[in-house]
Parts: sequence; structure tokens; C-alpha cells
Amino acid sequence: MTITAATKVYAVIGDPVSHSLSPVMHNGWIADHSLDAVYVALQLTSDDPVAAIEALNGFAGLNVTVPHKEAAAKAASRNEGAVANVLRREDDGTFSGFNTDGLGFLDSLTEGAPDWRARARRVLILGAGGAAIGVGQALSPHVDTIHFANRTAERGEQAARSIPNGRTTRWDDLERGFGHADLIVQTTILSMADQAEMEWPVSFCRPNAIIADIVYRPLETALLESARARGLTAIDGLGMLIHQGARAFEIWFGIKPDVVKARQRLLAALA
Ligand code: ATR
Repeated sequence: MTITAATKVYAVIGDPVSHSLSPVMHNGWIADHSLDAVYVALQLTSDDPVAAIEALNGFAGLNVTVPHKEAAAKAASRNEGAVANVLRREDDGTFSGFNTDGLGFLDSLTEGAPDWRARARRVLILGAGGAAIGVGQALSPHVDTIHFANRTAERGEQAARSIPNGRTTRWDDLERGFGHADLIVQTTILSMADQAEMEWPVSFCRPNAIIADIVYRPLETALLESARARGLTAIDGLGMLIHQGARAFEIWFGIKPDVVKARQRLLAALA
């Protein structure tokens, strides 16, 4: 593809952002559909991220990652909520904000466990950061209860208060939490490659439990490995990345992209 002055520029903004897989995913889809567009990763370090994002009005669309999702929502003229991971530039030059993280997670769940709605009544979310709350809000209307277990109890309580059916489980009582849950979602950094391996009490899980990890480096986290060893349904973190991206692509271009091709490209990029 030839880049010209007419080429539309898209970016993922974050700090840090250099390890983002989003350019691989979106440029793959842009090529699939022969679009005159390009997608880059843009580091955004600023004391005033709202103003900095507003100044990016030459971009046709943005993905937004940590720590700028709240600033992105503020920089948008219309929004779906207080946190935005997608911005689209409108004809009048303003940004509209969207959040595809929650629905992207549900898409990934549906892909890995098509019958999850019938199976998941009690949910345990490990962690209480932005990702945990986003997942909790997306799941909330579909399940009975959502228990947050977090190292810092106060943050867990805050997360629980942010959704109508939110509860807490003590971090030192994970065995009970694992034993009660139909669906467990891991959102902390404990699954990441550079962390000391955590001993999750997977042996306490119900035989029909679904275990999802939103971390994808490594793809097969210690939690997913032990879940699979027990024969439980295990869902990796690439699914959420791909599906939130697919929804962003559709918001920008009006095209549903190929998620299977995206997984192949991302696996190659991770290898
Ligand atoms: P994000 O918004 O990206 O989800 P975050 O707000 O930094 O990320 O949240 C990270 C999560 O990982 C939190 O739930 C955090 O627990 P605390 O609230 O107690 O900090 C959790 N976390 C990070 N390091 C941890 C550790 N060593 N043990 C247990 N939980 C940890």
C-alpha cells in the first residue's frame, strides 16, 4: 500500500505503548480490506492528557490504553461512559468516545464457552483495577453475583460498589471464592511473565467452572494451565484483545473484521 496525504491515520495511545499488539492486528485488517489507512502506536506522556488527546484531531481514530482511558472520555464530545478505549473523529472535527473492552470480553467468553450465560451465575473477579471493573460491569446484567477478590481490600470494596450485584471475597480466602464460582476472571498482574508464579487454588473449582485470564503474555498463564489440567474451560487473554479491537475496527470502518486471521497474526507476533 502507498501512503499518501489522503491516507487516514489511526493510533493506539498509551504510556507505555511500545509493546502493543494493536498495530499488528489493525494493519492486518486494513490490508485485508484494502483500506487507505495506517495504524501506529503513539506514546503519550503528558501532565494534561485531556488537552494532549484533544490536540490529536488529525487522527481519524484512536485506541486508548493505560493510563489515558479516563482522559480520552473527557476529550470526547460524546461518550458511552466515563472511560473510553476508542475515539472516532467525526466530520465536525470532534471525537466520539466508545468503550469496547467490556463487550470485547463478553465476545471472547462466548467464543470460548458458547453456553456461558447458562453456566455462569456466580462470578469471581481477581483484582479490582480498571480492567476488573470493566469486566464486572459487562458481566453484571447477565449473572447473579460478582465477587471481587483483591489484595487491597478497600479497592475490592470500591469495585463491588460500582455494580449493583457486586460483592467482595477476602484475598486470604481465595479457596472459598474459587469453590463458589462458576466463572473466574483473572485481571491482576500476577499472571504476567515477569511475576513470581502464584499458586491459585484451582483444585477447589467446581467441575463445570469457566476460567478466563485477561493477561496474554504469556498466553498460557499458570492459572489457565492448571485449569486445563483439571479439564475446566480455559479462556486466554488474546480473545479480549481481539474482540475489543474488532469492535473498534467496526466503529471506525463499518466492517466486521476477521477475528481468526487476527489470532493467527497475533500468535505469530507473540512467538
Ligand atoms: P488495571 O487498571 O490495568 O486493571 P491496576 O489498576 O494497576 O490495573 O490494577 C492492578 C491489579 O493487580 C489490582 O487489583 C492490584 O491489586 P491492589 O489493588 O492490591 O494493588 C493487583 N495486583 C498488583 N500486584 C499484585 C500483587 N503482587 N499481588 C496481588 N495483586 C496484585
